[in-house]
Amino acid sequence: MTSPMRSLLSDHSRYVESFRLFLENSTEHQCMLEFIEKKLPSIISSIGNEKSTINILSVGGGAGEIDLQILAKVQVKYPGVIIHNDVIEPSAEQITNYKERAAKTSNLENIKFTWHKETSSEYESRTKANGDMKKWGFIHMIQMLYYVKDISATIRFFHTLLEPGGKLLIILVSGTSSWARLWKKYGPHLPLNDLCLYVSSADIEEILDAAGLKYQSYDLPSNMDITDCFAEGNKNGELMLDFLTETCNFSQTAPLDLRKELMEDLKNLQYSENIGGRYFFNNNLSAIVVESSI
Ligand SMILES: C[S@@+](CC[C@H](N)C(=O)[O-])C[C@H]1O[C@@H](n2cnc3c(N)ncnc32)[C@H](O)[C@@H]1O
Repeated sequence: MTSPMRSLLSDHSRYVESFRLFLENSTEHQCMLEFIEKKLPSIISSIGNEKSTINILSVGGGAGEIDLQILAKVQVKYPGVIIHNDVIEPSAEQITNYKERAAKTSNLENIKFTWHKETSSEYESRTKANGDMKKWGFIHMIQMLYYVKDISATIRFFHTLLEPGGKLLIILVSGTSSWARLWKKYGPHLPLNDLCLYVSSADIEEILDAAGLKYQSYDLPSNMDITDCFAEGNKNGELMLDFLTETCNFSQTAPLDLRKELMEDLKNLQYSENIGGRYFFNNNLSAIVVESSI
């Protein structure tokens, strides 16, 4: 019998909704903002030297929350410089959210936004076919490499688009996070297909080492309050469970024994810390900054 479990990515609205709940219940964006505040200024110190224009490429920019914070830091570092900020984002819904957010944000006068409604591989094919291989001072891929077909080829392609002194920032779950543990154990039982790959920073570092690329990694401690996942029939809890398993309607479609074991594990110390009766899943992230080759 074929399993009724489907990848969460196959229902884009549900994906966006469960991602929003994940953000509301985790310190995901807070830990990124802290990294942007404390580490980004020195990381971007080589991207705009003596340039009148800085080119930034956001791959999988989502609704732009983090992108706009990055842009604010670039503006402070390079006052008055024109910034071209291109965004590759396949979701029309996310692009609309991004545009609305940008429209409500002040001080963006020196930034020219261009949105490309396509995946990273569509961008690669299109620009190669056009012979339009624009170079970028800063490229970032934040929490999106799970969704590309060939991670190694994607990293290598975007790395070739860096200007001299440019930087490629990759953020994704840490190899020491509960995500890595969860995917290792349950990945084979979840609807893994070509829409989502269970990768962590440890896999990316292996790819970078094999490609001989120079990089530096930073730990971003984070957690996610998953207590609602244990409240029977709680809609938000169900959406968060979908996000954790990357499965659409996990509660309704997963076999009972799988659901039982996974729910028990999620309460286990190896996955979550119990603080005052609430369960905090280890959502630690890693930021990897890859140098340009020249
Ligand atoms: C988890 S969200 C991260 C959004 C944003 N970077 C953030 O951290 O808030 C992943 C984003 O990648 C986008 N995405 C999915 N597959 C993609 C692909 N193949 N190429 C580019 N973006 C993709 C999704 O639409 C989604 O907006």
